[in-house]
Amino acid sequence: MRRIVIAGNWKMYKTQAEALEFLQGFIPLISETPEDREVVLCVPFTALVSLSQSLHGSRIRLGAQNVHWEKEGAYTGEIAAPMLTEVGVRYVIVGHSERRQYFGETDETVNLRLKAAQAAELTPILCVGETKQQRDAGETESVIFNQLAKDLVDVDQTNLIIAYEPIWAIGTGDTCESVEANRVIGLIRKQLTNPDVPIQYGGSVKPDNIDEIMAQPEIDGALVGGASLQPASFARIVNFQ
Ligand code: PGA
Repeated sequence: MRRIVIAGNWKMYKTQAEALEFLQGFIPLISETPEDREVVLCVPFTALVSLSQSLHGSRIRLGAQNVHWEKEGAYTGEIAAPMLTEVGVRYVIVGHSERRQYFGETDETVNLRLKAAQAAELTPILCVGETKQQRDAGETESVIFNQLAKDLVDVDQTNLIIAYEPIWAIGTGDTCESVEANRVIGLIRKQLTNPDVPIQYGGSVKPDNIDEIMAQPEIDGALVGGASLQPASFARIVNFQ
């Protein structure tokens, strides 16, 4: 059975105080959300501890935005899986296009991070997607299949979420047509050994397009950036019709 997973990716937004303020506004808005929807917040490292303490008894699950492959070591600026699980983190985004584009993340390091996350019983959310240039050149499928082939070597597909995020749709307001997102996600599923891996769409998901996106048969959820920063807009997304 495929699960529905709606995850917010706060990126480099919100202090601890702002994160707690969000929570106060958000929790009452999801009291009627159907039980079968997993609700995840992937927040900056500094907000993890205070959110984790405030989430007790709530259905919201906590996610981080990166994880290193070693358990500890001389890796300035990185974070290890045991540091995340200790504070109640259950999910972690791996291979987001912003990490690949600005911080030198490669398919090889993505693969190492995925395996380390799983070894610590974190559920990784693996991001894949093509640039505008690659799409225009007709390379969408080959780019994504190549990412999947490299990223998923020796990765356990029973504890995995994938997010299809066309890079040209991220933060641009330029959403991928839901039918096209559905088509690509169907192709991604065909590359997997476990057809039940939840596959999300990400890229300018908003309250006014979530219903259409979630109506697509192959799409199991969303990874939401900008629209996850306000309680009302993220709640409307989580409460899609
Ligand atoms: P966006 O970001 O919703 O702001 O486009 C999505 C993401 O980067 O995960």
